[in-house]
Amino acid sequence: MKTIQVHLDKRSYSINVESGLLRKLPSILSDQNHGQKWIIISQYNLMELIGFELMSNLNKAGFKCDYITLPVGEAAKSMNEFSRIISQLIEMKCDRSTTILSLGGGVVGDVSGFVASSFMRGIQYYQIPTTLLAMVDSSIGGKTGINIAEGKNLVGSIYQPQGVLIDPDILESLPREEVIAGLGEVIKYGAIRDEKFLNNISEWLDDIDSFPFAKAVLRACEIKAEIVSLDEYEGGLRKLLNFGHTVGHALEAHLGYGKIRHGEAVALGMKCAGWVSHKMGFMSVDENISLTKTIDKLSLPHVSKVDPNTILSYVKKDKKMRNGILHFVVLNTLGEGNTCDSVPDNLIKESLKVIQ
Ligand SMILES: NC(=O)c1ccc[n+]([C@@H]2O[C@H](COP(=O)([O-])OP(=O)(O)OC[C@H]3O[C@@H](n4cnc5c(N)ncnc54)[C@H](O)[C@@H]3O)[C@@H](O)[C@H]2O)c1
Repeated sequence: MKTIQVHLDKRSYSINVESGLLRKLPSILSDQNHGQKWIIISQYNLMELIGFELMSNLNKAGFKCDYITLPVGEAAKSMNEFSRIISQLIEMKCDRSTTILSLGGGVVGDVSGFVASSFMRGIQYYQIPTTLLAMVDSSIGGKTGINIAEGKNLVGSIYQPQGVLIDPDILESLPREEVIAGLGEVIKYGAIRDEKFLNNISEWLDDIDSFPFAKAVLRACEIKAEIVSLDEYEGGLRKLLNFGHTVGHALEAHLGYGKIRHGEAVALGMKCAGWVSHKMGFMSVDENISLTKTIDKLSLPHVSKVDPNTILSYVKKDKKMRNGILHFVVLNTLGEGNTCDSVPDNLIKESLKVIQ
Protein backbone atom coordinates (compact mmCIF):
# COMPACT_ATOMS: atom_id res chain seq x y z
CA MET A 1 0.00 0.00 0.00
CA LYS A 2 1.28 3.47 -0.91
CA THR A 3 0.64 6.13 1.68
CA ILE A 4 0.72 9.89 1.18
CA GLN A 5 0.42 12.20 4.17
CA VAL A 6 -1.62 15.40 4.28
CA HIS A 7 0.15 17.45 6.97
CA LEU A 8 -2.32 19.61 8.85
CA ASP A 9 -1.24 19.37 12.51
CA LYS A 10 -4.11 17.79 14.46
CA ARG A 11 -6.16 17.41 11.29
CA SER A 12 -3.45 15.44 9.46
CA TYR A 13 -4.47 12.27 7.65
CA SER A 14 -3.20 9.79 5.15
CA ILE A 15 -4.24 8.94 1.62
CA ASN A 16 -3.88 5.20 1.07
CA VAL A 17 -3.69 3.92 -2.49
CA GLU A 18 -3.75 0.20 -3.19
CA SER A 19 -5.21 -2.12 -5.75
CA GLY A 20 -7.78 -4.35 -3.97
CA LEU A 21 -7.94 -2.00 -0.95
CA LEU A 22 -11.74 -2.17 -0.75
CA ARG A 23 -11.68 -5.84 0.30
CA LYS A 24 -9.20 -5.00 3.07
CA LEU A 25 -11.25 -2.11 4.43
CA PRO A 26 -12.55 -3.98 7.52
CA SER A 27 -9.00 -4.69 8.67
CA ILE A 28 -7.71 -1.22 7.68
CA LEU A 29 -10.49 0.44 9.76
CA SER A 30 -10.60 -2.09 12.62
CA ASP A 31 -8.55 0.15 14.98
CA GLN A 32 -11.15 2.89 14.50
CA ASN A 33 -14.13 0.65 15.30
CA HIS A 34 -15.24 1.37 18.88
CA GLY A 35 -18.79 0.07 18.58
CA GLN A 36 -20.13 3.22 16.92
CA LYS A 37 -22.51 3.27 13.95
CA TRP A 38 -20.84 3.41 10.52
CA ILE A 39 -22.96 4.89 7.74
CA ILE A 40 -22.03 4.43 4.10
CA ILE A 41 -23.34 7.40 2.09
CA SER A 42 -23.41 6.48 -1.58
CA GLN A 43 -25.66 6.10 -4.64
CA TYR A 44 -27.79 3.01 -5.27
CA ASN A 45 -25.88 2.01 -8.43
CA LEU A 46 -22.64 2.13 -6.47
CA MET A 47 -24.15 0.20 -3.55
CA GLU A 48 -25.06 -2.57 -6.01
CA LEU A 49 -21.63 -2.43 -7.62
CA ILE A 50 -19.47 -2.37 -4.47
CA GLY A 51 -21.31 -0.91 -1.49
CA PHE A 52 -23.47 -3.86 -0.39
CA GLU A 53 -20.48 -6.20 -0.42
CA LEU A 54 -18.44 -3.65 1.54
CA MET A 55 -21.25 -3.24 4.10
CA SER A 56 -21.62 -6.99 4.46
CA ASN A 57 -17.85 -7.44 4.96
CA LEU A 58 -17.80 -4.67 7.56
CA ASN A 59 -20.77 -6.15 9.44
CA LYS A 60 -19.17 -9.63 9.38
CA ALA A 61 -16.05 -8.08 10.89
CA GLY A 62 -18.04 -6.65 13.82
CA PHE A 63 -18.86 -3.16 12.53
CA LYS A 64 -22.41 -1.78 12.95
CA CYS A 65 -22.80 -0.56 9.41
CA ASP A 66 -25.83 0.79 7.54
CA TYR A 67 -26.25 2.93 4.43
CA ILE A 68 -28.02 5.95 2.94
CA THR A 69 -28.25 6.73 -0.77
CA LEU A 70 -28.27 9.97 -2.71
CA PRO A 71 -29.63 10.49 -6.22
CA VAL A 72 -27.20 10.50 -9.13
CA GLY A 73 -26.04 13.85 -10.53
CA GLU A 74 -25.72 17.44 -9.31
CA ALA A 75 -29.32 17.31 -8.03
CA ALA A 76 -27.90 15.43 -5.03
CA LYS A 77 -25.93 18.50 -4.00
CA SER A 78 -29.04 20.33 -2.78
CA MET A 79 -30.36 21.73 0.46
CA ASN A 80 -33.24 19.21 0.26
CA GLU A 81 -30.96 16.18 -0.03
CA PHE A 82 -28.70 17.57 2.67
CA SER A 83 -31.56 17.92 5.15
CA ARG A 84 -33.03 14.54 4.12
CA ILE A 85 -29.74 12.84 5.03
CA ILE A 86 -29.53 14.66 8.34
CA SER A 87 -33.09 13.49 9.16
CA GLN A 88 -32.18 9.92 8.16
CA LEU A 89 -29.13 9.97 10.41
CA ILE A 90 -31.36 11.02 13.29
CA GLU A 91 -33.92 8.31 12.44
CA MET A 92 -31.07 5.78 12.43
CA LYS A 93 -30.20 6.97 15.95
CA CYS A 94 -26.79 8.20 14.90
CA ASP A 95 -24.89 10.31 17.40
CA ARG A 96 -21.63 12.20 17.72
CA SER A 97 -19.62 8.96 17.61
CA THR A 98 -21.06 7.93 14.21
CA THR A 99 -18.55 7.63 11.38
CA ILE A 100 -19.50 8.27 7.75
CA LEU A 101 -17.96 6.38 4.86
CA SER A 102 -18.40 8.48 1.75
CA LEU A 103 -18.43 6.01 -1.15
CA GLY A 104 -18.70 7.67 -4.54
CA GLY A 105 -17.56 10.41 -6.86
CA GLY A 106 -17.28 14.11 -6.17
CA VAL A 107 -21.03 14.53 -5.77
CA VAL A 108 -21.31 11.98 -2.95
CA GLY A 109 -18.04 13.22 -1.41
CA ASP A 110 -19.13 16.86 -1.38
CA VAL A 111 -22.54 16.21 0.17
CA SER A 112 -21.47 13.60 2.70
CA GLY A 113 -18.47 15.70 3.72
CA PHE A 114 -20.80 18.64 4.35
CA VAL A 115 -23.16 16.39 6.30
CA ALA A 116 -20.20 15.16 8.39
CA SER A 117 -19.08 18.73 9.03
CA SER A 118 -22.46 19.84 10.32
CA PHE A 119 -24.26 16.84 11.86
CA MET A 120 -24.09 17.33 15.65
CA ARG A 121 -21.49 20.05 14.93
CA GLY A 122 -19.16 17.62 13.20
CA ILE A 123 -18.57 13.87 13.07
CA GLN A 124 -15.77 11.79 11.58
CA TYR A 125 -15.78 10.69 7.97
CA TYR A 126 -13.62 8.86 5.46
CA GLN A 127 -13.52 9.51 1.75
CA ILE A 128 -13.62 6.38 -0.45
CA PRO A 129 -13.55 7.93 -3.94
CA THR A 130 -14.85 5.86 -6.85
CA THR A 131 -14.34 8.20 -9.83
CA LEU A 132 -10.97 9.29 -11.19
CA LEU A 133 -11.89 12.91 -10.50
CA ALA A 134 -12.72 12.15 -6.88
CA MET A 135 -9.53 10.07 -6.42
CA VAL A 136 -7.21 12.83 -7.60
CA ASP A 137 -9.12 15.89 -6.48
CA SER A 138 -12.39 16.17 -4.59
CA SER A 139 -11.69 13.55 -1.89
CA ILE A 140 -8.53 15.35 -0.73
CA GLY A 141 -8.37 18.70 1.02
CA GLY A 142 -11.68 18.81 2.86
CA LYS A 143 -13.71 21.05 0.55
CA THR A 144 -17.34 20.07 1.00
CA GLY A 145 -20.48 21.70 -0.26
CA ILE A 146 -23.84 21.86 -1.95
CA ASN A 147 -25.34 24.03 -4.66
CA ILE A 148 -28.08 26.64 -4.29
CA ALA A 149 -30.16 28.37 -6.95
CA GLU A 150 -27.67 31.25 -7.07
CA GLY A 151 -24.71 29.04 -7.89
CA LYS A 152 -22.60 25.95 -7.44
CA ASN A 153 -20.85 25.05 -4.17
CA LEU A 154 -22.00 28.32 -2.59
CA VAL A 155 -22.79 26.61 0.73
CA GLY A 156 -20.15 24.41 2.29
CA SER A 157 -17.17 24.09 4.56
CA ILE A 158 -13.56 23.01 4.71
CA TYR A 159 -13.70 19.93 6.89
CA GLN A 160 -10.96 17.33 6.64
CA PRO A 161 -11.71 13.59 6.51
CA GLN A 162 -10.04 11.05 8.82
CA GLY A 163 -8.48 9.46 5.77
CA VAL A 164 -8.79 8.91 2.05
CA LEU A 165 -8.93 5.29 0.91
CA ILE A 166 -8.33 4.71 -2.80
CA ASP A 167 -8.72 1.44 -4.68
CA PRO A 168 -7.80 2.15 -8.33
CA ASP A 169 -9.42 -1.19 -9.34
CA ILE A 170 -12.82 0.50 -8.84
CA LEU A 171 -12.14 2.54 -11.98
CA GLU A 172 -12.70 -0.55 -14.15
CA SER A 173 -16.46 0.00 -14.04
CA LEU A 174 -16.30 3.76 -14.55
CA PRO A 175 -17.86 4.88 -17.86
CA ARG A 176 -15.31 6.18 -20.37
CA GLU A 177 -16.71 9.75 -20.37
CA GLU A 178 -16.22 9.91 -16.60
CA VAL A 179 -12.64 8.66 -17.02
CA ILE A 180 -12.00 11.38 -19.62
CA ALA A 181 -13.45 14.01 -17.27
CA GLY A 182 -11.11 12.82 -14.49
CA LEU A 183 -8.13 12.89 -16.83
CA GLY A 184 -8.76 16.62 -17.29
CA GLU A 185 -7.98 17.12 -13.59
CA VAL A 186 -4.94 14.82 -13.85
CA ILE A 187 -3.55 17.02 -16.65
CA LYS A 188 -4.13 20.04 -14.40
CA TYR A 189 -1.63 18.77 -11.81
CA GLY A 190 1.09 18.36 -14.41
CA ALA A 191 0.32 21.78 -15.89
CA ILE A 192 0.53 23.71 -12.62
CA ARG A 193 3.25 21.79 -10.78
CA ASP A 194 5.21 19.11 -12.66
CA GLU A 195 6.19 19.40 -16.32
CA LYS A 196 7.69 15.88 -16.39
CA PHE A 197 4.38 14.45 -15.14
CA LEU A 198 2.56 16.48 -17.82
CA ASN A 199 4.82 15.01 -20.51
CA ASN A 200 4.24 11.50 -19.15
CA ILE A 201 0.46 12.03 -19.17
CA SER A 202 0.65 13.26 -22.75
CA GLU A 203 2.50 10.08 -23.80
CA TRP A 204 0.17 7.82 -21.81
CA LEU A 205 -2.85 9.44 -23.48
CA ASP A 206 -1.66 8.14 -26.86
CA ASP A 207 -2.90 4.74 -25.73
CA ILE A 208 -5.67 5.49 -23.29
CA ASP A 209 -6.61 1.80 -22.88
CA SER A 210 -3.23 1.14 -21.25
CA PHE A 211 -3.22 4.35 -19.22
CA PRO A 212 -1.41 3.62 -15.91
CA PHE A 213 -4.17 4.91 -13.64
CA ALA A 214 -2.66 3.78 -10.33
CA LYS A 215 0.62 5.55 -11.11
CA ALA A 216 -1.11 8.74 -12.28
CA VAL A 217 -3.48 8.78 -9.28
CA LEU A 218 -0.54 8.45 -6.93
CA ARG A 219 1.41 11.38 -8.42
CA ALA A 220 -1.69 13.58 -8.62
CA CYS A 221 -2.50 12.80 -4.96
CA GLU A 222 1.08 13.68 -3.96
CA ILE A 223 0.76 17.08 -5.61
CA LYS A 224 -2.67 17.77 -4.13
CA ALA A 225 -1.53 16.66 -0.65
CA GLU A 226 1.54 18.89 -0.83
CA ILE A 227 -0.51 21.94 -1.86
CA VAL A 228 -3.24 21.39 0.74
CA SER A 229 -0.62 20.83 3.46
CA LEU A 230 0.94 24.21 2.66
CA ASP A 231 -2.31 26.15 2.23
CA GLU A 232 -5.40 24.49 3.69
CA TYR A 233 -7.69 27.53 3.45
CA GLU A 234 -6.72 28.70 -0.05
CA GLY A 235 -4.84 31.82 1.02
CA GLY A 236 -2.37 31.51 -1.86
CA LEU A 237 -0.85 28.33 -3.27
CA ARG A 238 -4.11 26.32 -3.21
CA LYS A 239 -5.61 28.81 -5.64
CA LEU A 240 -3.44 27.16 -8.33
CA LEU A 241 -5.74 24.15 -8.17
CA ASN A 242 -8.34 26.39 -9.80
CA PHE A 243 -6.41 26.34 -13.09
CA GLY A 244 -9.07 26.03 -15.80
CA HIS A 245 -11.87 26.43 -13.27
CA THR A 246 -12.74 30.12 -13.89
CA VAL A 247 -14.02 29.45 -17.39
CA GLY A 248 -14.82 25.82 -16.44
CA HIS A 249 -17.32 26.77 -13.72
CA ALA A 250 -18.82 29.44 -15.97
CA LEU A 251 -19.29 26.84 -18.74
CA GLU A 252 -21.01 24.48 -16.31
CA ALA A 253 -23.38 27.23 -15.20
CA HIS A 254 -24.04 28.52 -18.73
CA LEU A 255 -24.61 25.14 -20.38
CA GLY A 256 -26.53 23.78 -17.38
CA TYR A 257 -25.33 21.43 -14.66
CA GLY A 258 -25.51 17.87 -15.90
CA LYS A 259 -25.12 18.98 -19.54
CA ILE A 260 -21.34 18.95 -19.26
CA ARG A 261 -19.23 17.11 -16.69
CA HIS A 262 -17.18 19.15 -14.21
CA GLY A 263 -13.91 17.59 -15.42
CA GLU A 264 -14.81 18.20 -19.07
CA ALA A 265 -15.60 21.86 -18.34
CA VAL A 266 -12.30 22.22 -16.47
CA ALA A 267 -10.37 20.66 -19.38
CA LEU A 268 -11.96 23.16 -21.78
CA GLY A 269 -11.32 25.93 -19.24
CA MET A 270 -7.62 24.93 -19.19
CA LYS A 271 -7.42 25.46 -22.95
CA CYS A 272 -8.80 28.98 -22.44
CA ALA A 273 -6.48 29.63 -19.48
CA GLY A 274 -3.47 28.39 -21.48
CA TRP A 275 -4.34 30.81 -24.27
CA VAL A 276 -4.79 33.67 -21.76
CA SER A 277 -1.41 32.76 -20.18
CA HIS A 278 0.26 33.12 -23.55
CA LYS A 279 -1.54 36.35 -24.47
CA MET A 280 -0.65 37.88 -21.09
CA GLY A 281 3.01 37.21 -21.89
CA PHE A 282 3.60 34.35 -19.46
CA MET A 283 3.78 31.15 -21.47
CA SER A 284 5.36 30.83 -24.92
CA VAL A 285 3.27 29.98 -27.97
CA ASP A 286 5.00 26.58 -28.25
CA GLU A 287 4.20 25.74 -24.65
CA ASN A 288 0.58 26.67 -25.22
CA ILE A 289 0.44 24.48 -28.33
CA SER A 290 1.93 21.59 -26.34
CA LEU A 291 -0.66 22.01 -23.53
CA THR A 292 -3.48 22.24 -26.06
CA LYS A 293 -2.30 19.10 -27.86
CA THR A 294 -2.31 17.17 -24.59
CA ILE A 295 -5.82 18.36 -23.66
CA ASP A 296 -7.07 17.61 -27.18
CA LYS A 297 -6.10 13.95 -26.70
CA LEU A 298 -9.21 13.74 -24.49
CA SER A 299 -12.32 13.53 -26.62
CA LEU A 300 -14.12 16.48 -25.08
CA PRO A 301 -17.65 17.62 -25.92
CA HIS A 302 -17.96 20.32 -28.52
CA VAL A 303 -19.42 23.55 -27.17
CA SER A 304 -20.66 25.65 -30.03
CA LYS A 305 -23.27 27.88 -28.47
CA VAL A 306 -21.39 29.75 -25.80
CA ASP A 307 -22.20 33.40 -25.31
CA PRO A 308 -19.05 35.28 -24.17
CA ASN A 309 -21.03 37.90 -22.23
CA THR A 310 -22.96 35.24 -20.31
CA ILE A 311 -19.72 33.41 -19.54
CA LEU A 312 -18.22 36.66 -18.25
CA SER A 313 -21.23 37.33 -16.05
CA TYR A 314 -20.78 33.89 -14.43
CA VAL A 315 -17.04 34.52 -14.05
CA LYS A 316 -17.89 37.68 -12.10
CA LYS A 317 -20.07 35.70 -9.68
CA ASP A 318 -17.41 33.04 -9.09
CA LYS A 319 -15.96 32.34 -5.65
CA LYS A 320 -12.52 33.12 -7.11
CA MET A 321 -13.56 36.81 -7.19
CA ARG A 322 -12.41 38.48 -3.98
CA ASN A 323 -13.10 42.17 -3.24
CA GLY A 324 -14.05 42.61 -6.87
CA ILE A 325 -10.73 41.18 -8.09
CA LEU A 326 -10.55 38.01 -10.16
CA HIS A 327 -7.60 35.78 -9.27
CA PHE A 328 -7.15 34.06 -12.61
CA VAL A 329 -4.78 31.08 -12.65
CA VAL A 330 -2.24 31.26 -15.45
CA LEU A 331 0.86 29.23 -16.29
CA ASN A 332 4.24 30.98 -16.14
CA THR A 333 5.54 28.00 -18.01
CA LEU A 334 4.46 24.35 -18.29
CA GLY A 335 4.61 22.88 -14.77
CA GLU A 336 4.45 26.26 -13.02
CA GLY A 337 1.12 27.86 -12.19
CA ASN A 338 0.63 31.40 -10.91
CA THR A 339 -2.25 33.76 -10.22
CA CYS A 340 -2.81 36.94 -12.19
CA ASP A 341 -5.14 39.71 -10.96
CA SER A 342 -5.10 41.79 -14.14
CA VAL A 343 -6.57 39.58 -16.86
CA PRO A 344 -8.84 41.91 -18.88
CA ASP A 345 -12.48 40.87 -19.35
CA ASN A 346 -12.07 40.98 -23.11
CA LEU A 347 -9.27 38.45 -23.04
CA ILE A 348 -11.45 36.00 -21.12
CA LYS A 349 -14.24 36.45 -23.66
CA GLU A 350 -11.80 36.11 -26.58
CA SER A 351 -10.27 32.96 -25.13
CA LEU A 352 -13.55 31.12 -25.73
CA LYS A 353 -12.70 30.91 -29.42
CA VAL A 354 -10.18 28.14 -28.64
CA ILE A 355 -12.96 25.81 -27.52
CA GLN A 356 -15.55 26.55 -30.19
N1 LIG B 1 -14.62 19.12 -3.11
C1 LIG B 1 -13.75 19.35 -4.06
O1 LIG B 1 -12.59 19.72 -3.80
C2 LIG B 1 -14.15 19.14 -5.48
C3 LIG B 1 -13.19 19.17 -6.49
C4 LIG B 1 -13.58 18.89 -7.79
C5 LIG B 1 -14.91 18.60 -8.08
N2 LIG B 1 -15.83 18.59 -7.07
C6 LIG B 1 -17.23 18.27 -7.35
O2 LIG B 1 -17.29 16.92 -7.78
C7 LIG B 1 -18.48 16.74 -8.55
C8 LIG B 1 -18.17 15.88 -9.76
O3 LIG B 1 -17.70 14.64 -9.30
P1 LIG B 1 -17.47 13.39 -10.28
O4 LIG B 1 -16.88 13.87 -11.54
O5 LIG B 1 -16.79 12.37 -9.49
O6 LIG B 1 -18.95 12.96 -10.69
P2 LIG B 1 -20.11 12.15 -9.92
O7 LIG B 1 -19.85 12.08 -8.49
O8 LIG B 1 -21.37 12.75 -10.38
O9 LIG B 1 -19.96 10.68 -10.53
C9 LIG B 1 -20.20 10.49 -11.90
C10 LIG B 1 -21.07 9.27 -12.17
O10 LIG B 1 -20.27 8.10 -12.09
C11 LIG B 1 -20.92 7.12 -11.29
N3 LIG B 1 -19.84 6.35 -10.68
C12 LIG B 1 -19.02 6.73 -9.69
N4 LIG B 1 -18.07 5.82 -9.49
C13 LIG B 1 -18.30 4.81 -10.35
C14 LIG B 1 -17.66 3.58 -10.64
N5 LIG B 1 -16.53 3.24 -10.02
N6 LIG B 1 -18.19 2.78 -11.59
C15 LIG B 1 -19.30 3.16 -12.27
N7 LIG B 1 -19.95 4.30 -12.05
C16 LIG B 1 -19.45 5.13 -11.12
C17 LIG B 1 -21.76 7.92 -10.33
O11 LIG B 1 -22.81 7.15 -9.80
C18 LIG B 1 -22.22 9.06 -11.23
O12 LIG B 1 -23.33 8.66 -11.97
C19 LIG B 1 -18.98 18.12 -8.90
O13 LIG B 1 -20.13 18.40 -8.14
C20 LIG B 1 -17.84 19.05 -8.47
O14 LIG B 1 -18.30 20.30 -8.06
C21 LIG B 1 -15.47 18.84 -5.79
